[in-house]
Amino acid sequence: MKQLLISLALLVLSTTVARAQQPTPAAPATEQQQQREKWNKVLTGKQAGYAFNEKPNALLAAAIKGRPPGKALDLGMGQGRNTIFLAQQGWDATGIDLADEAVALAEQHARQAHVRIHSLVQSVGDYDFGTNRWDLIACIYFGPRDYLQKIKDSLKPGGLFVLEGAEQGATKTQQIGSSVVFTADELRQMFAGYKILRCDVQEGISDFKLTKTPLIYFVAQKP
Ligand SMILES: C[S@@+](CC[C@H](N)C(=O)[O-])C[C@H]1O[C@@H](n2cnc3c(N)ncnc32)[C@H](O)[C@@H]1O
Repeated sequence: MKQLLISLALLVLSTTVARAQQPTPAAPATEQQQQREKWNKVLTGKQAGYAFNEKPNALLAAAIKGRPPGKALDLGMGQGRNTIFLAQQGWDATGIDLADEAVALAEQHARQAHVRIHSLVQSVGDYDFGTNRWDLIACIYFGPRDYLQKIKDSLKPGGLFVLEGAEQGATKTQQIGSSVVFTADELRQMFAGYKILRCDVQEGISDFKLTKTPLIYFVAQKP
């Protein structure tokens, strides 16, 4: 009997130890983790078949042409093509992105280009934009909806907001994350009271996936 009890006790103990040694099941990835993983892959060239424009965004380049450089904030900077471009044009450029590998690549490209950028691996939602701080805020294929008040408060009077993204019509033929899909009316309403310098909808080659898509080109100036 004694022997049986000892055997039973040992069995219970070994089962408990085995359970404790099993790896904890992975927690479901949060939306931010999914974004980080996706964009780390795409922007460092590890996602086969996903092409994107590695050159500076054309709308942003046109928007700053002839303007004196100042302080620029690039939201969702990715691998830094636009942050670096702004720095090359003399801007004091800060970029934020939660995709750490993409940001590391941006820093590497900046060093190779002999320019200084400020880069932050952070969610835009956690960033303190400040007040009357930026001469330019760029949302290039990055959605501003959740950060609208921060953008408006932190732009200096006269500062520019520049956005390029998909126009609503693009969703008829493609699956695009709703955060980067806009209508001209929505953007005009979001920036009511601003001077709208550009608000065009045109078929163009999207910087991401490089497909022909209805795009929206939007530039607004804080009064
Ligand atoms: C389509 S890419 C655009 C990258 C860059 N603006 C460009 O045009 O090259 C979108 C970027 O937004 C970043 N992103 C998405 N959600 C974010 C968040 N909440 N905070 C910071 N970055 C975010 C992604 O990691 C990705 O690099």
